[in-house]
Amino acid sequence: MNAGSPSIVRVEAGHACYDVTIGADCLAGLGSVLRTTAPTAIRAHLVIDAGVPESLVNRVRSAFSESGLIGNESRLTPSEPIKSTPTWQRLLLDIAEASLERSDVIIALGGGIVGDLAGFAAASYRRGIPIIQCPTTLLAMVDASVGGKTGFNIETSHGLLKNMVGAFHQPAAVLADVDALASLDERVFRAGLAECVKHAMLSADYGDPDLADWMARSTTNILARNPATLTELVTRNVAVKAAVVRTDERERSSGDQGRALLNLGHTFAHAIETIDSLSPTNDPNLAPLMHGEAVSLGLIASATLAEQLGRASGMVEPLRNRLVKFGLPTAVRGLPESGEILARMAHDKKADTGRSRFVIPIGDGSSRVVLDPPVQAVVAAIESIRA
Ligand SMILES: NC(=O)c1ccc[n+]([C@@H]2O[C@H](COP(=O)([O-])OP(=O)(O)OC[C@H]3O[C@@H](n4cnc5c(N)ncnc54)[C@H](O)[C@@H]3O)[C@@H](O)[C@H]2O)c1
Repeated sequence: MNAGSPSIVRVEAGHACYDVTIGADCLAGLGSVLRTTAPTAIRAHLVIDAGVPESLVNRVRSAFSESGLIGNESRLTPSEPIKSTPTWQRLLLDIAEASLERSDVIIALGGGIVGDLAGFAAASYRRGIPIIQCPTTLLAMVDASVGGKTGFNIETSHGLLKNMVGAFHQPAAVLADVDALASLDERVFRAGLAECVKHAMLSADYGDPDLADWMARSTTNILARNPATLTELVTRNVAVKAAVVRTDERERSSGDQGRALLNLGHTFAHAIETIDSLSPTNDPNLAPLMHGEAVSLGLIASATLAEQLGRASGMVEPLRNRLVKFGLPTAVRGLPESGEILARMAHDKKADTGRSRFVIPIGDGSSRVVLDPPVQAVVAAIESIRA
């Protein structure tokens, strides 16, 4: 794949159809994307992730002036605690102060936290206005910006509940400029690779059986952040996600496939990523876990669960090797006892049918949903990530 030519993945989700444009410097095309997706817009509100380099922010600002749009801005310093009601409310106030109408447009420029919050502001302001997602982390490019899930966390007596409030609100377009990945902190970059490994664990059923092997063969170029390799990595991952979302936009499938598969590793991940003391390397200064690091641990737990249930064999060790090569954690110190993790899982939204729901890998590139697995198998899965 040529670093100079952007690639496009078409997403069809319910009534919404949009393009994800991926490549180096593809933010330069934002002006024309604005003109085609929001032709009657007069104003645009840019929600900026404070970690994004100013040069990238300026590319978006110049797209506003090119398109004759009046631009306003909000800036967020992302962390899971600020993915909250007060931040959503602040964004709505900023957008209302800027007098956006329903035909105007919001642009999210940042990682998954900014994308999820700006997405929900767009979903809820005036009952829904268009948003263009410009993801700037690997995780946001391959996962959070595509598929329309938006929202934030709430703090309850059961602890912080991830993504408990939100809406499906598909973007009008997504521009994943891989140049943005150059400035990412190494830890943040690697966390995004966990979602790529997750996609590769279900990609055989969604059109890309070679994804895991290609990622293994391309490890050096991926970690060196070669722009052409990153363009291919993001394109193939977005294509897998788009193929899953196409079959089940709102995660309503009652079978053992559909959008729920994208939660592979997440039932475990959501239970542990809200524990403030956990660190990927046991260095307390690095606590808490990033979402992608928790997903990495969750993938190991899911593979262990699959083996416990007799649905797979010989899967955990190769997976562990793959994650270690990408610098991702596969075990963690200081995990609370399994009873506490089980209780946290029970409050996660993935238990929303009153039954516990897990996704397990069942073979190379294939995963399935299982309901109410025996508790001792889940406990063994939790213990498999205890260092
Ligand atoms: N909506 C979905 O479908 C979906 C899917 C997966 C994850 N998520 C959510 O995404 C969030 C995690 O997203 P994330 O991993 O992107 O983390 P994040 O949003 O916290 O960003 C990580 C860090 O990278 C910085 N950053 C962003 N872009 C940068 C750049 N170009 N250069 C330098 N620094 C930059 C940010 O300021 C932040 O400090 C979680 O809240 C998770 O729940 C949502």
